[in-house]
This record gives sequence, C-alpha cells and structure tokens, in this order.
Amino acid sequence: MSKRISIHGQWSSRLMFILAATGAAIGLGNIWKFPYMAGENGGGAFVLVYLLCLALIGIPIMMAEVLIGRRGRQSPVNTLHSLSVEAGASGSWRLVGWAGMLAGLVILSYYSVIAGWTLAYLMRMLSGTFVRVTAEGSGSIFAQLVTDPERLLAWHTIFMVMTIKVVSRGVTNGLEKAAKILMPMLFFLVLVLVAYAARNGDFAQAFNYLFYTDFSKLTPAGVLTAMGHAFFTLSLGMGAMLVYGSYLPSGVSIAQTSILVGLLDTLVALLGGLATFSIVFANGLAAGEGPGLIFQTLPIAFGQMPGGMFFGALFFLLLVFAAWTSAIVLIEPLVAWLIENREMERIRAAIWTGMVAWLLGIVTILSFSHWSFSFHFGGVLKRHGLFDVLDIVTSSIILPLGGLCMALFAGWVMARDSVVDELGGLAGVGFKLWYFIIRFITPAAMLLIFLRAIGVL
Ligand code: TRP
Repeated sequence: MSKRISIHGQWSSRLMFILAATGAAIGLGNIWKFPYMAGENGGGAFVLVYLLCLALIGIPIMMAEVLIGRRGRQSPVNTLHSLSVEAGASGSWRLVGWAGMLAGLVILSYYSVIAGWTLAYLMRMLSGTFVRVTAEGSGSIFAQLVTDPERLLAWHTIFMVMTIKVVSRGVTNGLEKAAKILMPMLFFLVLVLVAYAARNGDFAQAFNYLFYTDFSKLTPAGVLTAMGHAFFTLSLGMGAMLVYGSYLPSGVSIAQTSILVGLLDTLVALLGGLATFSIVFANGLAAGEGPGLIFQTLPIAFGQMPGGMFFGALFFLLLVFAAWTSAIVLIEPLVAWLIENREMERIRAAIWTGMVAWLLGIVTILSFSHWSFSFHFGGVLKRHGLFDVLDIVTSSIILPLGGLCMALFAGWVMARDSVVDELGGLAGVGFKLWYFIIRFITPAAMLLIFLRAIGVL
C-alpha cells in the first residue's frame, strides 16, 4: 500500500507536532481536574495508580493511536475503516471512531463551561477582587459565580466562539505560533506557584498527601477513575491523538514524541497538584472539595503574594490558553469527518459542531445550581449531578474503552509489518517491549480494572 496523504494538511515540523500534542494534552485536566480528583480519592494511592496507568497504559496507547492515525491519514472513523479493511478485519472498528467523536462533543460541552470559569477568574484577578482574600471569602466568590447560570452562559459562549474560530482556520494556521510562547510561560507560572507554595503553604503536607500511598483510601471505582484520568489528561481514547497523528510527517519518531508529551503532561499535573494542596492545607480547606478546588484555593495564594494581581491574572490567562489548545482538538475528529464524508466546508463543520457542544454545555451550567443533585460513585460523594454523570461516562468509560480498542487494533488487527514501518524510529528491544505491552499488558491491566470496578473480581 502506498503512503496516504491527509487532505487536511500536515504539521510543518516535528516541533510543531510536539507543541500541538502537548497543547492538546496539557489543559484543564492537569491543573483543574487532577488536583480535585486526587483530593476526592484520598491522595497518594490514587496518584500512584494514575502514574502507573500513564506508564503502562497511557503512553503505549498514545503511540498506538498516533501510529494508527499516521497510517490512515484520515478522520478516526475513516482511518479505522480503511485500515481494518486493509488488514482483512471487520469494518465495524470504525464504531470506535464514532464513540470517540461523541465523547469529544460531550467533553467539550463541559470543558467549555469550566474554561468559562477560568475566563471569569481572569477578570476577577484583574479587578483586584482577591487581594488579601480569606478562605471563606474565596469560597463564597466561587459559589456566587457557579450559582449564576446567566453569567456562566455568557463566559461559556465566549469560550465556545474562541474555539470555533480556531477550528475553522484549520490545522496549520491554528494556534501553534502562540502555543510556542504560551505553553512555556504556563510552565513557568506553575513553577512560580510551586515556589510560593513551598515558602508560604504547607508544602510538606501536600507532598506527603500526594506521594504517601495509603491504599485503604482507594476504592475499585477510584482505580477506574485514576485510569480514566490517565486517558483524559493525555487526550487519548477518542481519536484526538489519532487525528494529530494523521497530520504527522512520516519520519518523525512516534515513540520519542509520545514519551516526551506524556512526561511534560505528568510534570505539569504533579506541580499543579503540589501547589494546590500546599494552599489547601495551609488554609485548613477540604481536599475533597470537588471541581471548585483550584478556584477556591489558588486565589488565596495570589491574594497574598507580592504582585499577586499580575501573577494571578497571568496564571488564569495562561490556563485559558491551555484550555483553548485542548478544546480545539476535542471536536477536530468530528470536524474532519464532516469535511471528508459530508463534503462540508471546514468553517461550517466547525460552527455546527461547536453549536451542538454549546447547547449541551447548558446541562453542565445548570448542574451547579437549579439541576444539581448528588450521588455516590465508588464511595465519593458527587454533588454536581449531570455534570458528574457526563464526566464519569466519558472519562471513566468511553475513553478507556476507546483506548483499549486502539491497543487491540494496533496490537492484533494491523499487520505487524505496518506497525513496524510506522514505528521506524523504535528499533529492536524497544519495539519488542512496546509490542508486548500493547498486546498483553495494557489489555490485561485494563480488563482487570474494569472487572474490579463493576465488582466481578
Ligand atoms: N487532555 C485535556 C486536558 O487535560 C482534555 C482532553 C481530553 C482532550 N480528551 C481530549 C483534549 C481530546 C483534546 C482532545 O485538559
């Protein structure tokens, strides 16, 4: 089979791919979601499982997804279809692509709402709302925001328009140039926060909390959550990395780039977690606060540090940016499919998709006020009704299942030769190790986690 080329264009260089993939991976998942998930699930043991999942499941699957994408050079649905036909397998593998597109839409719907909170916080930082704010003050400012659906809707709308705008410009004219400057800046700002936390927060307790493993605090559903978050944070299991791989020039090493992206993503999450919990413990706040965790804690730190208004505004600006570079990828698989199969113009495809996600976002907005209800998931009290349901169904179920299918596809369906061909840079032992992991270890580990979570094991 001769090499395919993508009709949507290609990354101009290896660095561009790394930036774009890191941009997709690092987002609200690292700074907003990881700390609150860790807090809800008791800290250390959750973090350890999360790290193990990243190493044994996440990064190997990222390689699988990227290589499938580069081999097929089309949207996930069409790539999985053509590659399975090529391998003499059932064309139904494309259903994995469908599930992924759907998951992307759902994730974007709530992602945009949270990104809207971030925008709102940027404005509040600029106006000096948080100067010398107390823990209670910060808590009530947050509560005021999330119980005001109209305000949330306005910010959600602004963020969705930003997302549609970039997606409609296409792959190579998107955000890469800005990402080149802003991603390193975000990293720097997280370091500033960590430095502040080390001096003024309860750094030792935060460290202990995140790295001291007490397995009695972790339920089987918590393990599933940790695995789901490994997928969420690396943007796996829904075809996003597959699409990014389809724009990857041949000759770039998939193994090296995936490992790099995985490590950077992990580093940002751990640093974000350390900063957050130092402030949580120093101010006597609750670790299991839920989705409001960073919005209630980080402003306290900015309110106290010299130049806090400036740093705080910059931090939330960069967080908006990190969310933006992720949000655009969440609908890229669906947009690429609409262009390929419905011959839609990119701009129309982006607007339609964005509008559906926008509408669905209203569910999340209301989950924090009028429609809120609580339920338990694996011993954790979830207080934000449908938002939590949407998150659990996508992050803990659809993304891992999608990822499992990608692993099986690369490990068992595709011809070994095609796989070797795409992973060209990974020679000898490295390849054998990865191939063994993706065929046996990853599926077995995932199966075990699923079965335990549903109580079979
Ligand atoms: N990884 C992103 C984050 O941590 C969220 C995300 C999940 C995502 N799946 C994705 C982003 C797919 C882009 C594409 O915030």
